Amino acid sequence: MTLILGIESSCDETAAAILEDGKKILSNVVASQVDVHKKYGGVVPELASRHHLENIVPVVRGAFAEARVSPYQLEGIAVTQGPGLVGSLLVGINYAKALSFGLGIPLIAVNHIEGHIFSAPLTLWGEESQKKKAITDWNTLLPCLSLVVSGGHTSLFWIKSWGTNSQGKECYELLGRTRDDAAGEAFDKVAKLLGFGYPGGALIERLAKQGDPNSVGLPIPRISGSQFDFSFSGIKTAVLRYTQAFLQNELSVKYFQNVNNLADEKIPQSICNLVASFQSTVIRILNEKLLVASEIYQPRSIMLSGGVACNRALCSEITKSFLKKKLPVYFPTPILSTDNAAMIAAAAYPKFLRNNFSDLSLNANVRLNLNNCC
Ligand code: KG4
Ligand code: ZN
Repeated sequence: MTLILGIESSCDETAAAILEDGKKILSNVVASQVDVHKKYGGVVPELASRHHLENIVPVVRGAFAEARVSPYQLEGIAVTQGPGLVGSLLVGINYAKALSFGLGIPLIAVNHIEGHIFSAPLTLWGEESQKKKAITDWNTLLPCLSLVVSGGHTSLFWIKSWGTNSQGKECYELLGRTRDDAAGEAFDKVAKLLGFGYPGGALIERLAKQGDPNSVGLPIPRISGSQFDFSFSGIKTAVLRYTQAFLQNELSVKYFQNVNNLADEKIPQSICNLVASFQSTVIRILNEKLLVASEIYQPRSIMLSGGVACNRALCSEITKSFLKKKLPVYFPTPILSTDNAAMIAAAAYPKFLRNNFSDLSLNANVRLNLNNCC
């Protein structure tokens, strides 16, 4: 039995988790800073690092307590190396280095996006999947297409094996990624321009349920070059133009100052229609790319992960469209979709088995790539 502690601090969540053999979640603690950044309408990097500093000790202690594990039982410390905000990453990295040095156990650097990829199979195992049949051998899911859709990333990967190969090379082929805004960023920006709070994804999903997704025509971007690249800034701009042209009266009333406390039926129908149309356009773009990629690559499964995978409309649309092809679609529970450290410890496990360790010179890499074919 191998116990690995995962630490994640790449953006505005301070998280620690302990996993047994890379699959069984013994603890998963997340301290969110949403309330700190809300009033600024987005993450303020300087504030994020300061709050990571305050949170890291109690969060890691919480992970030990929840797992009922002592630090001396650990065999490895996994930490997010990047991509992310430099000041935020450095808090987790330095804490992990100190712990690894103090305990005399290996340090494992993990790419945040690789962590998100692992959150989908992780959900298929153990406590998170009590209602579904557990899939213990993740190799049966491969090869797969994995779409990471979060506030910072929209990337489509072709995965033939988990983690690194025997030369320590990562086995993820990046088929496409966003040229501008990430999908979650588009949700957040649309929410902001309508006067909703930050982050906006969950609220947009809630209001979209009351709207007509066919009421506002929004553009589907046509991108030259890589057929699997994405673009979301045009849709966001189209929403802005529509709002300026048709919704000035609705938005001049400050309906949305306290939208979370406002009964949904008080939100004007025109606003619900617009957000429903926006959400369905984003889902259509993601779904179409996945369908084309599945025709070309012939995967055994499709995986979605990242904060936007909390969106049940997205998950159910994609599941439905692959039902006809008899292809299973897997997505994490909400707690594993958004940033967490369980996914970091899970991604570290194959590296641990291959002795793919880092030394104390490990540094943050804010633009760490994940694109290696093996
Ligand atoms: O993965 P995550 O926690 O952080 C990053 O690594 O970026 O993702 C956060 C993003 C935010 O943009 C948020 O608006 C979006 O996930 N999100 C959603 C939903 N819940 C969170 N987007 C659409 N629908 C949701 N229900
Ligand atoms: Zn993330």
